[in-house]
Amino acid sequence: MDKYVINGGKKLFGEVNISGAKNAAVAIIPAVVLCDVPCKLRNLPNIRDVSVILSILENMGAKVDRDPTDPSAVTIDPRGITSYKVSCDDLVAKMRASYYLLGALLGKFGKADVPPPGGCKFCKRPIDLHIRAFEALGAEYKDIDDHIVLESDGLKGTEINFDPVSVGATINAILAAVKAEGKTIITSAAKEPHIVDLANFLNYMGANIKKAGTDEIKITGVKELRGPSDDSGEEISYTIIPDQIEAGTYMAAVAAAGGEITINNVTAQHLRSIMKVITETGAKVTVISDPNREYETVTVARRGDLRGCKNQVITSPHPGFPTDMQPPITALLAAANSTSTVVEAVWANRFSYVPELRKLGAEIDENKSSLTIHPVAGGLKGGTRKKPVSVRALDLRAGAAMVIAGLAAEGITEVEDAKYVKRGYEDIVGKLTALGADIRMVTYKEITDDSDE
Ligand code: UD1
Repeated sequence: MDKYVINGGKKLFGEVNISGAKNAAVAIIPAVVLCDVPCKLRNLPNIRDVSVILSILENMGAKVDRDPTDPSAVTIDPRGITSYKVSCDDLVAKMRASYYLLGALLGKFGKADVPPPGGCKFCKRPIDLHIRAFEALGAEYKDIDDHIVLESDGLKGTEINFDPVSVGATINAILAAVKAEGKTIITSAAKEPHIVDLANFLNYMGANIKKAGTDEIKITGVKELRGPSDDSGEEISYTIIPDQIEAGTYMAAVAAAGGEITINNVTAQHLRSIMKVITETGAKVTVISDPNREYETVTVARRGDLRGCKNQVITSPHPGFPTDMQPPITALLAAANSTSTVVEAVWANRFSYVPELRKLGAEIDENKSSLTIHPVAGGLKGGTRKKPVSVRALDLRAGAAMVIAGLAAEGITEVEDAKYVKRGYEDIVGKLTALGADIRMVTYKEITDDSDE
């Protein structure tokens, strides 16, 4: 098992480079299943979820080649995938996004047989909307030996409406519809940056997807996804967008610990709602655009007091404040000198990490779907080397929240179950250490290891 040991209360200074977006990568890698030629993906984050989904594809027959000169680039040749059945149940159960194989295999073969997905269990995560979208496209759903089985005589374009808005179901509907016969219109579609990235990737490969990033996506089915024509001489390669949530996490970290950091390789437009909240806490956020560079840089400085947010922080689908930033922002606000309110409006209950924050002294009242976060006299407190405060990373973003609280708290905080954080943050220890944080990872063996890995 791995845990982070943080000696908190140290200000952060320096630069951090943001990796490729986890949630884009874990959608685009399964999308390669639909392609008819090999393609290279660049800017993949080096995180556990990406290794797992690549292993699943290899297990299905794809050839996966890592670029020896660029650790973030991988060429995937999907032509060896000849079956719609996925049998590596253990790997599939390690992550949520493995359910994108349903849409991808259904789109490729008209059939899919995939074990149930795993992933962060911060609350009940239904897939009824995904199944309804597949059914609308003409598939029949069965549960056979605990596998999700979809069968069809060929998919036909249709109208699909989502209520509530679902990121995952929108992605699965796109994957299934891209090669379906005729037109598909998805209304109340999710608009997250990684949905646009997926559509851009598929369009680059030859798909016809219009208006991704709006709430009405229009897809005209195509027969093949072969990338730019052979005579163009162009290498078939696609670069994944920067990770919005990783960037937001480093913003929250410096606002919590104090200091000034430069965050490179971001798309500032994706960060608007996060920057607004960070600014409210008294931190200064500056966006630097360079016309010669594809991405932007953001500096975040917090030199004075850390304030609570006057306005409620309310999560909502993009372009609203992302639910995945809710735990890290709550950790930040727990260290502030005035009261804030955080409302979770996407997931029914995503507050299971709050008792862990309380171990560091956080004073938080939990209501049904909101938190009232009070200032703590003297700030959050870790323990001593001999008697550290031990908290648990209950899932990926809850784990990021614990790291942020540990950076803000004076003294030693140990964050158990670092495996959840590693699922979605590339080299968080190396990146924070370069910013001056005192954080290290300790690996140890416990006789009763209850990890789900
Ligand atoms: C994705 C993200 C996750 C993020 C979430 C919301 C990935 C791999 N994960 O998860 O990090 O927290 O978006 O931004 O990209 N719902 C249903 N039925 C369904 C599907 C969803 O009722 O079939 C409900 C959920 O209970 C939830 C809401 O829809 O209340 C949003 O969920 P959804 O957008 O689907 O989240 P995920 O795609 O699972």
